[in-house]
Amino acid sequence: MTAPTERPRGGKHVVARTDEIPPGSRRIVELDGRQIGIFNIDGEYVAFLHRCPHMSGPLCEGAVIGLVESSGPGDVRLDESRKFLTCPLHGWEFDVHTGQSYFDPKRVKAKRFPVEVRSGADVAADAPAAAPGAPGTPEADTGAAPEADGRVPGPYTAETFEVVVEQDYVVVSTGRPRRK
Ligand code: FES
Repeated sequence: MTAPTERPRGGKHVVARTDEIPPGSRRIVELDGRQIGIFNIDGEYVAFLHRCPHMSGPLCEGAVIGLVESSGPGDVRLDESRKFLTCPLHGWEFDVHTGQSYFDPKRVKAKRFPVEVRSGADVAADAPAAAPGAPGTPEADTGAAPEADGRVPGPYTAETFEVVVEQDYVVVSTGRPRRK
C-alpha cells in the first residue's frame, strides 16, 4: 500500500500587474486550489480567502467600508482610515489589516495571505528558466518531431504570465500566513 500523496501548497504567485487592480478594485483568483481575493485599498494590497469563517459565504464579494462611529443619536462619524471587509451573506465585518472579526472577536478571523508588489525585473529573475522543448517554448509549439519516448508535444500549453520588466506586479504568497 502506498502512502497518500499530498498536493503541495504554498509558494509565491504573480496574480496581476499593479495597474490591473487599481485603488478601490479587487480581483478573485484561484491559487493552489483556493479562491483568493486581492484588494487594492487606497494603494495597499491585501488578500483574503474567498470564504467567510462564519458560514463559508463569498467573503471577497463583500463591500469594503470605513469605520462608522457614533456616540449617540445625531452623531455619526465615518473613519476612512480604518477599513473593514463586509461579508455579503450575513454582514460580519473583518478588519482588512488583521482579518479580525468584531462580531465574534475571540473565535473568528478571516484568513489573509501576504501580498507584495515586486518589480518585473525581480519577478523575471525569480522565474525558472524553461528547458528546451518544455511546454510553452517555441520548440514545443512548432509540431516538433516525437521525443525519444514517442510523445509528441501538442499545440496547447498552460497559461503563462508574460513579464514586462518595466512594470510592477502583485505577488501573493500562499504559504503559512504571517501571524499578527
Ligand atoms: S457567512 Fe459570512 S457573515 Fe455569515
